[in-house]
Amino acid sequence: MCGIVGYTGKNPAKDILFRNLQKLEYRGYDSAGIALQTADGLQVVRRLGKVANLVQASADTDPTSTCGIAHTRWATHGRPSEANAHPHRSCDNKVAVCHNGIVENYAELRERLVAEGHTFRSETDTEVVAHLVEKYYRGDLLSAARAAVREMIGAFGLVIMHADEPGTIVVARKDSPIVIGQGKDGCYVASDVIAVAEATRDVVVLEDYQFAKLTPEGMSFCNGDGQTIEPEHMRVDWEIDETERGNWPDFMLKEIHEQPRVVRDTLKGRMVNGLLSIDELELTPDELGFIDRVYVIACGTSYHAGLIAKDLIENWARIPTEVEVASEFRYRNPIITPSTLVVAVSQSGETADTLAAIRDARIRGAKVFGITNVIGSRIARESDGVIYTKAKKEVAVASTKSFIGQVVSLTLLAMLLAQSKNRLNTAQIRVLFRELADTAGQIEEILSDTKAIEAAAHDCADAQSALYIGRGLASTVCYEGALKLKEISYVHAEAYAAGEMKHGPIALLHEGFPVVAVATQSPIYDKTLSNIEESKARGAKIVAVATEGDDQIGKYADHVLFIPKVRDAFMPITASVVLQLFARAIAVERGCDVDQPRNLAKSVTVE
Ligand code: G6P
Repeated sequence: MCGIVGYTGKNPAKDILFRNLQKLEYRGYDSAGIALQTADGLQVVRRLGKVANLVQASADTDPTSTCGIAHTRWATHGRPSEANAHPHRSCDNKVAVCHNGIVENYAELRERLVAEGHTFRSETDTEVVAHLVEKYYRGDLLSAARAAVREMIGAFGLVIMHADEPGTIVVARKDSPIVIGQGKDGCYVASDVIAVAEATRDVVVLEDYQFAKLTPEGMSFCNGDGQTIEPEHMRVDWEIDETERGNWPDFMLKEIHEQPRVVRDTLKGRMVNGLLSIDELELTPDELGFIDRVYVIACGTSYHAGLIAKDLIENWARIPTEVEVASEFRYRNPIITPSTLVVAVSQSGETADTLAAIRDARIRGAKVFGITNVIGSRIARESDGVIYTKAKKEVAVASTKSFIGQVVSLTLLAMLLAQSKNRLNTAQIRVLFRELADTAGQIEEILSDTKAIEAAAHDCADAQSALYIGRGLASTVCYEGALKLKEISYVHAEAYAAGEMKHGPIALLHEGFPVVAVATQSPIYDKTLSNIEESKARGAKIVAVATEGDDQIGKYADHVLFIPKVRDAFMPITASVVLQLFARAIAVERGCDVDQPRNLAKSVTVE
């Protein structure tokens, strides 16, 4: 959340900063700003909205400056505005700060600084950092930054410059990601490796309460007491995906169409000599057999992938499985024993709550297994084992292909647990694996003709609210479908287990109210049909997701969106694709920015 970049070196800084900042726009796009070191002090430009606005507004900034910092914001404290945009400055305009995180004790610090005579110009928590550095500055920015950090409670990735120290950037970190690297032409800092890896593959991932000083000549590191340290270096030996939109109208549609490839890549190499293989789990068959409880911890869409996993693990492996949102789990007192497996699901691998939850789970003695899309991410590095979802870089903020990668990975995990508990034999696993692999082709079939989905979306595009209903696994598909709709089209959407409709939500229905019902073939299909009838009787407009060959559903539904016949366990993989397309089509009809919906960010690094 919030993207930070910095550069000091031989080359003009501005274009480097903008290029790298654009790579971090997935972290937030409420406002953006840049500070450049110039012969006349710090030159700062800030703009509301996306980085493109800032680039335009910065045309007249010093093209010769070779040192600067920049920021793209996701607002926490203070609404999105130019005044609240980073970098923030001290009263004398000599200190400039970009921050990712939250200074939790900012109100108290601000009050004290105001009493000491400092004047604040924004509503942000970040501005206190600029004033603290100003207060402690005695000719050495690093010492002032260390003194400032001593007063701060919360999470922060900070890049700081002082007008009296041309060419110097000081960096500090606690809980928010910071990556630093020295390229041929200078030193780079960013909140994600993708903005440093172009310059160097040898990076330092700063740890909590470590500080760095970057100059054109090189980088040095110290701890909070000022003692020199040699932090761990990490070699980025994986391919950094740089994706282009090409001829697609938006990244979301492009990514939806990549899903057959994601299924195939995620399954590649998983069946070896007829046996399921997930070596990364780093657990022996005996250790796997010992597991008697599973917690899946995640947020957002990843949480919904976890809900699907619960059903599969409990059904196939008969291991009690809880799925919890990480922000709740981390503050509970969950029952964790050495035989508990904690599975952290996270596209970005850096969601603050999920990370905190796995740290806590490991302290409590659980084995932690990560399922993530980002190689080298924090969650990957802090887990005992990791499956990469092979979705490749996902640009659209609303998650689609990484969700499918998560569901497929979790399905494999469920099969492996069932195998190790002797609940499924090798022949059964092989059949399941083959059918799982078939979902790639089934998604292709869905993608080959989307006319019915578009017609249904057209018919529902003016709705203010929608309900998604389903039973069993279909209800989990509904949770994700409803989330997609509200994320990108701003239509209020709620998902309910269909049987719960009459306990409240049915009161919302009126003539033309859209009810999206996932009514695919399953042992409880008839029960869902009854719930559809109840909705229809109250005037609802029914959009049904059903299985090809179902000749009953047309009697009840205004629109039927068919998916190929598939085992119920794998239905979420195909049915979700239909609901992704449906949500996107509504967002397009409503003229929304499909890839960068308001108020959201792809990566959530604050609590
Ligand atoms: C944000 C994103 C969602 C994502 C969630 C969890 O809210 O917008 O798409 O599902 O964070 O992120 P993670 O990276 O942990 O999967």
